[in-house]
Amino acid sequence: TGHVNLAVIPGDGIGREVTVEALKVLEAAAPADLKFAQTRYDLGAERYLTTGEVLPDSVLEEIRGQDAILLGAVGGKPNDPNLPPGILERGLLLKLRFALDHYVNLRPSRLFPGSVSPLSADVLAKGDIDFVVVREGTEGPYTGNGGALRVGTPAEVATEVSVNTAFGVERVIRDAFARAQKRPRRKLTLVHKTNVLVNAGSVWWRIFSEVAAEYPDVTTDYAHIDAVMIYLTTDPQRFDVIVTDNLFGDIITDLAAAITGGIGLAASGNVNPDRTAPSMFEPVHGSAPDIAGQLIADPTAAILSGALLLDHLGHPEAAAKIEAAVLADLTAREPGTQRRTPEVGDAIAARVAG
Ligand code: NAD
Ligand code: IPM
Ligand code: MN
Repeated sequence: TGHVNLAVIPGDGIGREVTVEALKVLEAAAPADLKFAQTRYDLGAERYLTTGEVLPDSVLEEIRGQDAILLGAVGGKPNDPNLPPGILERGLLLKLRFALDHYVNLRPSRLFPGSVSPLSADVLAKGDIDFVVVREGTEGPYTGNGGALRVGTPAEVATEVSVNTAFGVERVIRDAFARAQKRPRRKLTLVHKTNVLVNAGSVWWRIFSEVAAEYPDVTTDYAHIDAVMIYLTTDPQRFDVIVTDNLFGDIITDLAAAITGGIGLAASGNVNPDRTAPSMFEPVHGSAPDIAGQLIADPTAAILSGALLLDHLGHPEAAAKIEAAVLADLTAREPGTQRRTPEVGDAIAARVAG
């Protein structure tokens, strides 16, 4: 455990800008006897556009042999005629999540003191916002199970069929119960759309109810995805742990980020709880082509993803150091002033070191 082989995939756009800062802080926070051996993988839009390669099998197998992965973000400019939609998202990011069995996509949301929420004072007065979304990471509508017929004709038909296996649903629900049990409130909410998606919904509901019986000390709750959009903006304090499918989890976590200080703060871990392959840590945000190259992206989400990485590797004290440094940095932020990406990274690294 003194030596971590770390795969670094900076990716595209602001992914590259924030990854540098996350690494700075990771190095500063790591205990003296913990050494990171970094291997950088230049994957993403530039590699694809110059070589046609997205994720060669040999590279995937090399990454599989590492201890953990830090990823920035992938994706090019929208509607780039040379970049077919989804080529990087599916061929690189989802390929890694699927191949490395990242079935728990862990996305904590906490409104840190000092950060700004667009929620009204009335809503904020209800109490602290601190919940974690356990998003299923390997199934649902993300599997590519679908197709298109008669493309471009008025008779075109396109399908994206959601895949929900009892195996896949049970393992993520079990993980969520175990996480809920370790938190002070011990509450787990299943989010789905069981009133309409009755096939997938009944698998989720049945397994959720069955596993709940094994966790009598965890309070359970259910909400439909559409109502969750209401609760997140009117009563987010009701949530402790949420477990949900891949697509619902994607949507929930962007809104969750927006209400807890913004997308620039939202961290995530693509976790393989069985440790049969390396887990991957990345900010929730994308490559942000609209601000890339200006060095104005907030690297905090990537930095906090580094804390999740340290925690996963068994270094909770080092992870806590990063969180404390981020908290201090947020509290010191002056509204209306804009620091550059490296200034934020330097400031947080200095707090971690000092
Ligand atoms: P995005 O998250 O890149 O950007 C959404 C908005 O948030 C933009 O206005 C952007 O400027 C802002 N933003 C994002 N991160 C920020 C940060 N750290 N600091 C300040 N502002 C920030 O989402 P998008 O625009 O829908 O997608 C852009 C590209 O990224 C697409 O190709 C998409 O597929 C890809 N994407 C990749 C990932 C990933 O790699 N995990 C995640 C989401 C989107
Ligand atoms: C995310 C992103 C990805 C997702 C895309 C880029 C494949 O939006 O990490 O939230 O949908 O999971
Ligand atoms: Mn997303």
